Amino acid sequence: MLKKVGILINGGDAPGLNAVIRAITRTAERNQVECYGFLDGFNGLLKNNYVRLDNDPITSGILHKGGAIIGSSLNANVFNYKVIENGKEVYKDLSEKCVQNLKEDGIDCLFTLGGDSTQKSARDFSLRGIHVIGVPKTIDNDVACTDVTFGFNTAVSVATESLDRLHTTAETHNRIMVLEVMGRYAGWITLESAIAGGADVALLPEIPYDMDKVVEKIQARQRAGKNFSVVVVSEGAFPKGGSMSIKDTREGGKGVINIQLGGAGDIVAKELEKRTGLVARNTTLGYMQRGGTPSATDRILSTKYGAKAMELALEGKFNVLTVLKNGKLDYVSLEDVVGDNKEIGAVEGGTEDSNMKTVKMDDDLIKTARDIGICLGD
Ligand code: F6P
Repeated sequence: MLKKVGILINGGDAPGLNAVIRAITRTAERNQVECYGFLDGFNGLLKNNYVRLDNDPITSGILHKGGAIIGSSLNANVFNYKVIENGKEVYKDLSEKCVQNLKEDGIDCLFTLGGDSTQKSARDFSLRGIHVIGVPKTIDNDVACTDVTFGFNTAVSVATESLDRLHTTAETHNRIMVLEVMGRYAGWITLESAIAGGADVALLPEIPYDMDKVVEKIQARQRAGKNFSVVVVSEGAFPKGGSMSIKDTREGGKGVINIQLGGAGDIVAKELEKRTGLVARNTTLGYMQRGGTPSATDRILSTKYGAKAMELALEGKFNVLTVLKNGKLDYVSLEDVVGDNKEIGAVEGGTEDSNMKTVKMDDDLIKTARDIGICLGD
């Protein structure tokens, strides 16, 4: 009999987090299950810091709110956690303490809301005897085994609205407007917003770009009397033979995502200005894509994922991730989600080992973009 469940969020926030919390809690309440939220993700799990969510006004009026009422942990891997010992930074496996906390408090199932790194930790906890159920969160849409993650649709909407705004200023001043969007090593936000926002060029991490091709596209538009262009650039985009633009390497820690991408849009804008004779400006959209109210689509998806996660717990189906498969709500084993990244504690996101869903060249979106003449830099 399921009595108590806990919710934990790890990684960058994504619109829809509160909607998932609400859906899990509502479903729990209807089934007389106690529901707790760990504060600041894995940090809360480690310190046993949580709040009760069921039958509490804290979960009222949160459906439309951005962020997360229980916070999230960033760069936290409890299997390889930074602690200070004798004035020195050392990395330790503190997962056993978390397991102990969960067992002592009688948490029958832990819901892990997060991206690929989080679900890797979730799978590792499942091997330590904890019942976990993952919910795929990230604006990047790069979690394996699911059609879509919650938060992605809102990020695409924000990027699309930005492109609409950049379009009018580009046209007025005969400029090239570049928009750098997030997505880490996957170009989903770029590709979808480029199609929705009528961009002329979309540069993704999956296709190292050839600047000659981009210049050709812009010059062809000039010849057709269009002296302005709109270009979307993934933060992870890079030129053929070149490398990704790294803004910062944080902590230098093991077991966490320690690379901050940034600068790809500026590089493209500078190069285009030099080679086309048109003025080019870059706008980096940044955290606007992550904050604020979720779209209706994300509210619905988050609610479906949250309710499904609780349903699975009630059925005793643990160590799985709620997913959308060919548009239908479903679940997959966390072992499938982590793929070949099997070593316990190794959760660096976006490395060769991590199992991410990137854009494949036979994706309908790639074909559609090419059909309507969006230059993909190749
Ligand atoms: O994974 C979501 C994301 O927003 C990425 O698109 C981006 O690269 C990264 O997080 C930024 O993370 P941080 O909050 O650590 O700066």
